[in-house]
Amino acid sequence: MREAILLVGGQGTRLRPLTIATPKPMLPVAGFPCTEHQIARAREAGITRIILGTSYRAEVFESYFGDGSEFGVELVYAVEDEPLGTGGAIRNAARYLQSGPDEPVVIFNGDVLTGVDLVGLVDKWKIAQAAVALYLTRVEDPRAYGLVPTDDSGRVLEFREKPTTPEEIVTDQINAGCYVFKRSVIDRIPAGRPVSVERETFPELLGSDAVVIGVVDDGYWLDLGTPLAFAQGSADLVLGNAPSPLIGSRAGQFIADDTATIGDASRLSAGTHVGAGAHVASTATVAASVIFPGAHIAEGADIQNSIIGTGAHIGAGSILTGVVVADGAVVGAGVELTAGARVFPDARIPDGAIRFSSDKS
Ligand code: GTP
Repeated sequence: MREAILLVGGQGTRLRPLTIATPKPMLPVAGFPCTEHQIARAREAGITRIILGTSYRAEVFESYFGDGSEFGVELVYAVEDEPLGTGGAIRNAARYLQSGPDEPVVIFNGDVLTGVDLVGLVDKWKIAQAAVALYLTRVEDPRAYGLVPTDDSGRVLEFREKPTTPEEIVTDQINAGCYVFKRSVIDRIPAGRPVSVERETFPELLGSDAVVIGVVDDGYWLDLGTPLAFAQGSADLVLGNAPSPLIGSRAGQFIADDTATIGDASRLSAGTHVGAGAHVASTATVAASVIFPGAHIAEGADIQNSIIGTGAHIGAGSILTGVVVADGAVVGAGVELTAGARVFPDARIPDGAIRFSSDKS
């Protein structure tokens, strides 16, 4: 195993407005882009060459990661002029692969935080002589995911995208967004048009009797696609509950960048991360939240399970719970925002002006 493809070209609509300026995989999770955590884990597993399949805001990746040498891997960029979907992106990246037709290529969705045993996944792919091995995880409520039932030997029985009725929920195993493909199987994905690997490629492989196996790994897994999940994933990394070689021994109740300024009587807890140059004033409370670089949290503010964008200001005594404040926005003093509120980039909320809650009761 030497090569991987990382799919990082999605629009990240569920994380808007944070993804207006920054693609989802580049948003800082515990201080580093999700892509950087993934590159570090891939490198740890022995991968030396990674193709980044980019589309939305492709330039942001190249200016951060360059040729990959600073990150210990060789990085190549496969840019799509028009988004090609997950399968199309894999096919588009294939022209840069150096692996032979029977060799394994590891593929990751760019927004998945996981402790999956990559070496073990490749081993199982090899032993089964599979076309594709999928990493599966188990979740309590699988409705938002693609279900992947398997037989006793691990062979995938079907792919069922986002079930709606109870009868359709045939398993708690879901597609965890990481695969091992035989190189020659990638080359057979149609080129030059959008393809969904989940809806088209996998069902076609099953239809042609190809060996497709599912490997259930009950280690840490989280899809960072929504604001609450994003804040949760960052907190899990900071607390040391999610594995990343980039955090290591710094794990604890909070991590603040060396250049952040933290007031003496402030309370930071539950996996909060405070980014470079950010300021948290005395008497502010921040729990399980992500404070992006250059953000400013004033005295007595109380922030829980929220994401505060780059350079945003939160006024004194404001209370934010489960909120996304985008880059450059200003929330005045004494404002209360709860339950899914999203403040757009550079928006200004006057002092004490709004009590927002999506709770209609
Ligand atoms: P939402 O719009 O919020 O659903 O997020 P998303 O755009 O990232 O879509 P989704 O989470 O379903 O995508 C799964 C993974 O595939 C993510 O890592 C995306 O970056 C990636 N992805 C989705 N569509 C494309 C595409 O057209 N091209 C490339 N290169 N990657 C894609």
